[in-house]
Amino acid sequence: MDIKEVLVSADLRATDDQLRDPETIPWVPQAEGVSFKPLRICPERGSWTNLLRVTKRGTINLHRHLDAVEAWVIKGEWRYLERDWVARPGTYVFEPPGDIHTLMNTGEDEMVTLFSIHGPIEYIGTGGETVFTETAETKFTKYADFCQANGIPIAPIVG
Ligand SMILES: [Fe+2]
Repeated sequence: MDIKEVLVSADLRATDDQLRDPETIPWVPQAEGVSFKPLRICPERGSWTNLLRVTKRGTINLHRHLDAVEAWVIKGEWRYLERDWVARPGTYVFEPPGDIHTLMNTGEDEMVTLFSIHGPIEYIGTGGETVFTETAETKFTKYADFCQANGIPIAPIVG
């Protein structure tokens, strides 16, 4: 689905306050061993909030955040290859604009973390080049396409 369709579709916009049950939103595949469950996507501000799930020994490749990121660990444990701390359940993580890192699941089971992302993410190739830029629009498109392919209603998460 095109994000432009969403912006004119009242059905997909969160116009009122909501109590959203994550069980009504699917885990959308993002990469090998990585999936996300979007809770809110705001194309106008370029931000989104999602649950991220990474399977045991899974990784998220080297990337750069163009704006800040906040996270709250719910399950499992993980770290950034470039840091010496380990994020565990009940801990909060802040990443400033420009932060570059590689996420690794360091636990014995999958990890689940709530991420609130305030701007685009640039995935970095082996030569230092940007190979893909994730935005609120690409995030929504992945979610909507997955829903449509699997007959799942698209929740009103845009707002
Ligand atoms: Fe990150």
